[in-house]
Amino acid sequence: MCGIAGYIGPKNAVDVVFDQLKRLEYRGYDSAGIAYLQGDHIEVTKRAGKLSELGKALFETPKIAQLAIAHSRWATHGGPTNENAHPHYDQFERVAIIHNGIIENYLELKQELVAKGHKFKSQTDTEVAAHVIGEEYANGVPLEEAARKASKRLRGAFSLVLMSHTEPDKIVCVRNASPLVLGLGNGENMLASDIPALLPYTREVFIMDENTIGVLTKDSVHVYDSDGRSIPIKPMHIEWDVASAERGGFEHFMLKEIYEQPQVMRQVTAGRVDDSGVVRLEGVFNENVWTEIDRVNIIACGTAYHAGLMGKHFFESTLRLPTDVYFSSEFRYGNPVLSPKSLAIFVSQSGETADTLAALRLCKERRIRTLGIVNVIGSSIARECDRTIFTQAGPEISVASTKAYTAQVMVFALLGLYIAQVQEVPGVRVEEWVSEIMRMDALAEECLTLETDIIKMAEEIKDMPLCFFLGRGADAFVAMEGALKLKEIAYIPTQEYPAGEMKHGPLALITDKVISIFGCTDSTVRDKVVSNMKEVQARAGKCLAITTSDDTLMEQAADWTIKIPKTKYDFLNALLAIVPLQLLSYHIARLNGCEIDQPRNLAKSVTVE
Ligand code: M6R
Repeated sequence: MCGIAGYIGPKNAVDVVFDQLKRLEYRGYDSAGIAYLQGDHIEVTKRAGKLSELGKALFETPKIAQLAIAHSRWATHGGPTNENAHPHYDQFERVAIIHNGIIENYLELKQELVAKGHKFKSQTDTEVAAHVIGEEYANGVPLEEAARKASKRLRGAFSLVLMSHTEPDKIVCVRNASPLVLGLGNGENMLASDIPALLPYTREVFIMDENTIGVLTKDSVHVYDSDGRSIPIKPMHIEWDVASAERGGFEHFMLKEIYEQPQVMRQVTAGRVDDSGVVRLEGVFNENVWTEIDRVNIIACGTAYHAGLMGKHFFESTLRLPTDVYFSSEFRYGNPVLSPKSLAIFVSQSGETADTLAALRLCKERRIRTLGIVNVIGSSIARECDRTIFTQAGPEISVASTKAYTAQVMVFALLGLYIAQVQEVPGVRVEEWVSEIMRMDALAEECLTLETDIIKMAEEIKDMPLCFFLGRGADAFVAMEGALKLKEIAYIPTQEYPAGEMKHGPLALITDKVISIFGCTDSTVRDKVVSNMKEVQARAGKCLAITTSDDTLMEQAADWTIKIPKTKYDFLNALLAIVPLQLLSYHIARLNGCEIDQPRNLAKSVTVE
């Protein structure tokens, strides 16, 4: 959740790590800080608030250093203040550390240290870790050895990055659970919590494994296991160019990523569908495994969970394959009944979501087959699943997920069709599905042309106190994702339900100020949805309908109508409906002056449970 950056080499390290932090801004943060070497001591500058606050403090006078580490914090232990911001010193101010994750036993360690006379300046678990390292860093012990010993005393899921003024030629890092990526350069080396921060400097990266320690000098990178044994480094070449992680002329990453969806739809199918309409998912279990699977459990959080609901809809309605969807954060505590023939699917954009990772590990302990649907290559979930299908959506920077959702749902459709092929599911016309899927990019482009009309609607409804998102069938699942977008970026309270549930209670909330957005893309239940709309309007509520282009009656029924192109399948129509919903949330948030790419209280990659 926190952003981590580090650099050692001939460039000005202060500028480099500050730039890297800027590239990690999307992760969400509330304070930031930097430590850099100045002569025989470490200088630390840190500020609560936006990165610009740190920039103001840092660049009042030029700073030059060949080694620096930097951090943007998403508060866990202690509020977002200057004191709690990272880096933190050890008790002798010889070592400065930054940290991502949580040290679970920090209270007992702190008590021990206080009893020994240690004084703390912050409320953080990080400062406790710094002091533990300080205790181990004595009598000529190298920094990496101190870090290794200290890590054994720390419990939790964390990554640490350390520097010391007594060893001014190295950065040491520890990856326990939270991600750390090393960037390998020529006469310079660096690290970050996420690949986009490294891209302007190098495309050669090495993703550290859990429980390993890295030592970076300007000319070398070494990685060791927790017993100090050297581990060979096999760098990965990253193809994404810098532009794919930049705004490219759009006001916000979110808008850019909404607009990338047609391209993402092409990328998802690239190489997975051939001209004769056959789906090819290389490497995703042998064919005989698929015929054995008796049920699917989909496990994910947030938007990925909503994509999972769409997966369930496809698997059950098209394949008749029993499927459940779980919130990752609840999965472990429900002591789930798992058939040995079942398949567990983990959906995650980042591949690092702590709850999803924990659920994956539980399934592995129980020897259940696991499959990841993941965007970030090399991420923990991608690496730990038995098999992974990559969503191929490119880097998603905005905290509010858009293109990752589209890609995840498309992958579910492709996977479902692949299973239909392998299991020879009667009645599923894979070729016809494939030909509709191959039109989705063009249809998503058409949805984007609705933006001007959507802006007008956003202007009319932007002050609503509450918004309902309603639908039936797949539209009900898309409604959940539409609602999440509005609440997370525009801070407007939402209620999301299958439309038929309204009369069982939620209707009591309808007033003349409340707007209800109905997904009406499924013609087989449209009449029933219109009846639900009438029930809302009869109580003075206003209704916006998203329907398909062939619908000639909706304008008479709804207060506002958005028409999207129609495909042969309700599932795909519902998926297209997410595009206007994303645009509507985006423009309401923009008109209301909200911070779109970094919504309050939220972070992009949720690496704490
Ligand atoms: O990286 P993941 O897909 O595992 O993340 C899951 C959720 O944290 C994420 O989808 C979150 O709900 C987004 N902010 C939604 O826009």
